[in-house]
Order: sequence, then C-alpha cells, then structure tokens
Amino acid sequence: MKRPAAFIAGTGHAVPRRVVTNADIAAMGVDTNDEWIIERTGIRQRHIAGDGETLTSIAADAARQAMTRAGVHPGEVDIIILGTASPDHLLPATAVEVQTALGCSRAAAFDLSAACSGWLYSTIVAESLIANGTANTVLVIGAERLSGIVDWTDRNTCIVFGDGAGATVMRRSEGQRGVLSHFMRSDGALAELLWRPAGGGVLPFSPETFAQRQHYVHMSGREVFKHAVRSMAEATDRALDAARLTAADVDLLIPHQANVRIIEATAKHAGIPMEKVFVNVDRFGNTSAASIPIALNDAVEQGLVKEGMTVLFAAFGAGFTWGSLVVRF
Ligand code: UT7
Repeated sequence: MKRPAAFIAGTGHAVPRRVVTNADIAAMGVDTNDEWIIERTGIRQRHIAGDGETLTSIAADAARQAMTRAGVHPGEVDIIILGTASPDHLLPATAVEVQTALGCSRAAAFDLSAACSGWLYSTIVAESLIANGTANTVLVIGAERLSGIVDWTDRNTCIVFGDGAGATVMRRSEGQRGVLSHFMRSDGALAELLWRPAGGGVLPFSPETFAQRQHYVHMSGREVFKHAVRSMAEATDRALDAARLTAADVDLLIPHQANVRIIEATAKHAGIPMEKVFVNVDRFGNTSAASIPIALNDAVEQGLVKEGMTVLFAAFGAGFTWGSLVVRF
C-alpha cells in the first residue's frame, strides 16, 4: 500500500442557531407530519440559517474550529477549497469571502461544485495538490445554506435539507496516517433528477421562472434514492478495493447523511454492521456538501475516531456525483 500523501489534521463544524423540527414544518402548512418524516428519512430536526448567518459566516466558524484543532494559523493555509451548491454570491466564489473572514492572506481560494459530494471531491483535490507539491496545508470546507434555495411549499425537498458547515485541515503526511485510497465518478445524463432549473445562462431568472418556482431545487426523490443506493454501494467497493482492504478492516463508515434508509442500504451492501456506521441525519437533516464533515467532526467529538482507525467515507449527490475515501486516522 502506498504511503499516504496527506492526512486530516483537524476537524470542525458549525450550524445556524435556529432548530426547525418536523412539527415546525407541518405547522408552516406543509402537508406532512413528524411520523412520516422520521419513518421515511430518519430526520427529526435540522438547523436553518437566520439573518446574518451567511454561508461565509457558517463556513468560517467551522474552519476556525478545524484550524485551532490542527494547530494551524491563518498564514499557514496554502489553499482553501469550499464545496457548496448554495454560495453567498454567484460571483465570486464564497471561498474567497471565507479567506478574508479567516485572514488566510497567503491562500488561493476557490469553490468546488459537486453538490452533496462537494467535501469528498474537495478532499481528493486537496490530497492531490499536497501529493504533487503544490501545497502543504489545505483547508477543505463543505458548507450549505440550502434553506434559501429550497421551496418551503414542496414536501419532497423542504423536509430533507438543512444548513451547516463542516471543515477539515489537510496537511502533508509524515507517517502512515492519511488518505489510503479514493474513488470519484459522475453522470451528467441524470442531472435533471436533482437540479435548480433557473438562474444560470440557459434559463436566467425572470418573472416567468419565479412564477414557475424554477429558482428552487427540484428533486425526483424516489429516482434519486435508487441511484444513491446503487452508487454509494459501488463507491464503497471501489475505495476498499483500491486500498486492498475489506469491510472487516473498516472501523467506522461515515456516509453522506441523506436518508437513514440509504445509509442502511449502503452499510448492508458493504457488509459493515450498523454499530460501525455513523448516523446524525436525525439532528441535522441532509446538509449536502456539509453532511460528511459535520458527521466526521461529530464523531470526533464523541470520541469515536481514534488514532490508527480506518474510516470509510461515501458520498452521493446531484449531478450525479459520487465517490468514496479510505482514511487512516
Ligand atoms: O443528498 C443527495 C440527494 N438526495 C437524496 O439522496 C434524497 C433521496 N430521496 C429520498 O430520501 C426520498 O425519496 C424522499 C425522502 C425524498 C421521499 O421518500 P420516499 O419514501 O421516496 O417517498 P415517495 O416520494 O416515494 O412518496 C411516498 C408517498 C407518496 O404518497 P402515495 O403516492 O404513496 O400516496 C407521497 O405523496 O409519501 C408521500 N409523501 C409524503 N407524505 C408526507 C412524499 N413526501 C411526503 C412528506 N410527507 N414529506
């Protein structure tokens, strides 16, 4: 097995103050209920941003925690990569606003668009930049403020998503800990199963697009669900094969937190018992690019990630995009 080029030196997460329960969504007039949402998704609540809680502020809070834990000061960060589908502005990238908020004056900063796979793709890019000598220290953030682009009258989507940010600091690896393998794949033929039809060059915002609610996220939930299960199964197989490991070698599986039924199907396919699978979708909902780094930091804070452990990550999102990582801590 190759020696890892980069390791995760610190983790952090931040979520908006306001908690919105399933009952709160039903109380907004959405035709849904707590029992259905828990049974079909495992979600009990999510955090939703209020005034002043921008993507930049949430992402910067998560990043500060990760940098403190990694013992990295702002001037040491070479590159900031921010995975998001809900930037503060369409131009420029939110990553540069986060750079300014953090005072990482030496860094290059850019956003990466891979929807729910955003943090995982960004981590693979970060590892490559460290491996080829471009950077020593990369701040990787997955952050979303999806509440601003979700249709709060559409029960297919508004019950699922939440806001938040997770961050990791990647550094050059000196020893055996770090990224052991990775896998990433996309299929743009299926883009319209989960997308925001309006707002880009093809269909700019207009009174008509607003009237047709095309500025919001649209999702064919059942179809997306099937592809998520299939793709995350492929992803776990591919990263384990590439690392020459089996399910028995995995100490913890941290999958994208989209739906507890997708997580259970992924674990079953991989042959990993649920005791070794981290789940926090009940408290945060699906925070898209933020979900895996929030889950990782939550697991770290619960003492579930110990030195020497092998952790398998798997992601799936709009695009479609999917992928996986094996990391030794
Ligand atoms: O983050 C990566 C991408 N996203 C995902 O991975 C999400 C993948 N999809 C899902 O998690 C699920 O498909 C949803 C949670 C979105 C929906 O769950 P489902 O079990 O696939 O429900 P469904 O759309 O097949 O609908 C089943 C029934 C329907 O009623 P009928 O036709 O059987 O009478 C729906 O109208 O449940 C109804 N329904 C609801 N009822 C109460 C759909 N949404 C709701 C709701 N509350 N929120």
